[in-house]
Amino acid sequence: MKSKIVQFTRNKGRHVCPWWIAYLFDNPLRRLVHPPEKIVGPYVTAGMILLDFGCGFGHYTLGMARLTGPSGKVVAADIQQKMLDKTMARAKKAGLEGVVQPLLCSGKGIGAPFIFDFALASNSIHETPDRGEIMTELFAVLRPGGRFFLMEPRSHMTLERFESEVALAESAGFVETERPRVIREMSVLFENPRAC
Ligand SMILES: C[S@@+](CC[C@H](N)C(=O)[O-])C[C@H]1O[C@@H](n2cnc3c(N)ncnc32)[C@H](O)[C@@H]1O
Repeated sequence: MKSKIVQFTRNKGRHVCPWWIAYLFDNPLRRLVHPPEKIVGPYVTAGMILLDFGCGFGHYTLGMARLTGPSGKVVAADIQQKMLDKTMARAKKAGLEGVVQPLLCSGKGIGAPFIFDFALASNSIHETPDRGEIMTELFAVLRPGGRFFLMEPRSHMTLERFESEVALAESAGFVETERPRVIREMSVLFENPRAC
């Protein structure tokens, strides 16, 4: 019998992390294990336009907002309004509400009205019903030379399934440039290659 406590929101057949579970993993300990500015800092500079796809409670959104600063922007995209509400409350508390822009996704893609310098998808792509379509859209919204950082949790995914996501990103046009080491995560940095 399915536990009522661990009921997951449905996203066309895929399980989506319920908003209240984010309280369990987005906490001060996580900020020590996964310091957002340290993890994405090598790829983000002031003034960049950034996307955090599947932002949850905004663990990375806030770090990205600090890095890009008031001359830049972070679009925090999520399918759950409660995730966006919490992210914006945290951004306000940190004095970053002018840098973070929430975007409620419909479940049929991202729908972001910008071209980005950098996009992050941390622990979110595996929850989407069509990973290939999301990769294609991510590729389309990244400027040539822009980077895409894909991270998925070792606890939830096999290496084989992660590699199938990498293959989908490459089919969309991305080129793998690096495998950054992040504790308890599988991660790849891609680039949208500039035309020759
Ligand atoms: C496990 S949480 C990760 C949150 C955050 N990226 C982090 O690392 O803390 C996955 C997030 O992806 C969101 N998500 C799942 N499917 C989505 C979709 N199709 N479009 C946008 N967001 C989605 C969920 O609502 C949830 O907030």
